[in-house]
Amino acid sequence: MSSIKVIGGDRLKGETKIQGSKNAALPIIAATVLNKGVTILKNCPRILDVFHMINVLKELGCSATWEGNTLIVDTTAVTSAKVSESSVQKMRSSILFLGALLGRCHEVTIAYPGGCSIGNRPIDYHLDSIRKMNVCLEEDKGIINCFTDKITGTDIFLKFPSVGATQNIILTAVLAEGITRIYNAAREPEVYELCTYLEEAGARINGKGTSFIEIEGVNKLHDAEHTLSPDRIAAGTYMAAVAAAGGEAVLLDAPVPQIESVIRVLIKIGCSIKATDKYIKISRSRRLLPYDVLRTQPYPGFPTDMQSQLMTVLSLSDGRSTIVEEIFDSRFQNADELKKMGAKITVETKNIAVISGVMHLNGAVVKAHDLRAGAALVIAGIAAHGETIVREATSIERGYEDICRDMSNLGANVQYCSDNIQ
Ligand code: UD1
Repeated sequence: MSSIKVIGGDRLKGETKIQGSKNAALPIIAATVLNKGVTILKNCPRILDVFHMINVLKELGCSATWEGNTLIVDTTAVTSAKVSESSVQKMRSSILFLGALLGRCHEVTIAYPGGCSIGNRPIDYHLDSIRKMNVCLEEDKGIINCFTDKITGTDIFLKFPSVGATQNIILTAVLAEGITRIYNAAREPEVYELCTYLEEAGARINGKGTSFIEIEGVNKLHDAEHTLSPDRIAAGTYMAAVAAAGGEAVLLDAPVPQIESVIRVLIKIGCSIKATDKYIKISRSRRLLPYDVLRTQPYPGFPTDMQSQLMTVLSLSDGRSTIVEEIFDSRFQNADELKKMGAKITVETKNIAVISGVMHLNGAVVKAHDLRAGAALVIAGIAAHGETIVREATSIERGYEDICRDMSNLGANVQYCSDNIQ
């Protein structure tokens, strides 16, 4: 378990390149199992969650090798259709192997994912939908056994545009017999990108990026090469760092259309942003304004994965802001950590937090409860006076290739250190 030490208080100035997208990489790595052959994924981030998906591939009998940021996956042989309990519990995205293995092997044994630090995360939409596709599901002591003689396409209505459920249905449908139609599908860029990769591998999909997706089953997929998009949440995180600490930065390869909702909020609270198809330039010189009500929503709304970072930013604004977390029911744990640094936050209900901005934060020893909360604490440390130690920073490595490298490129004083530092 490592920590991150931040000496804060200075304005930022610098330039960094945005890594490949975590949330696009994970479902596509699961999807490679649908092809009997080799898939090449370029611009793949070297992060813990990707390493974890690779370990699952290896459990299944596949291989994966790195050449720089290119991941070469060989799924010619799948010798097991069982995803171990420890894998699913270590990382929720392992649940995407459910659809991919069903498509490939017509059977899968996978553990039920447990609770999670950001709240209750059921998979009933995944299971109910897959059941409708002529798949038998048996649940026994937290283990789900699925089998079918033939997956058949059908019409599926999602109660909520769940990202994971949409992806699992697509994965199940690609090699099914007939047509699967998903109504109220998730429109997130990571669903779009999964469809793009699958099309590159021979799948037939209409409506990607919209709330109605139609998948016409094909007999098999073929080898493909796919370049992953830049990570919209990493780009948003580094914009939030500039907003909190002040200064200016250039973010190369930032995926502008995917983070428009974040750009809009940052401009409204006083940042200057120039966005082109090659980079984003962001600067902040005057005191930040508060934001009346910031509501997380499915794409293209403001992403839940940027909520913690904005809580840090709004803690430093000149007034009162409210955050309403609409996606998860327990994503305000960072409020207590930020309060240790002098922030004034009241969590009114499990999904409403009220923030009264303060002039400055002070360095403190804090704990990263999850990936994005940890990144938000690094931002707080960069903006704060004095030294901040972010404990349990390993969770940050789940999604950021090297947050210390990137923040240092932006001029921050940030480094990994051992947990023994007081
Ligand atoms: C969610 C985010 C995604 C983010 C990821 C990691 C949304 C819509 N999704 O995706 O952008 O990258 O977390 O932080 O913002 N639900 C059910 N039953 C299900 C599936 C989901 O009730 O079977 C509920 C969840 O409890 C949650 C909501 O639907 O309240 C959103 O879930 P979903 O989009 O599936 O979550 P992830 O795929 O993890």
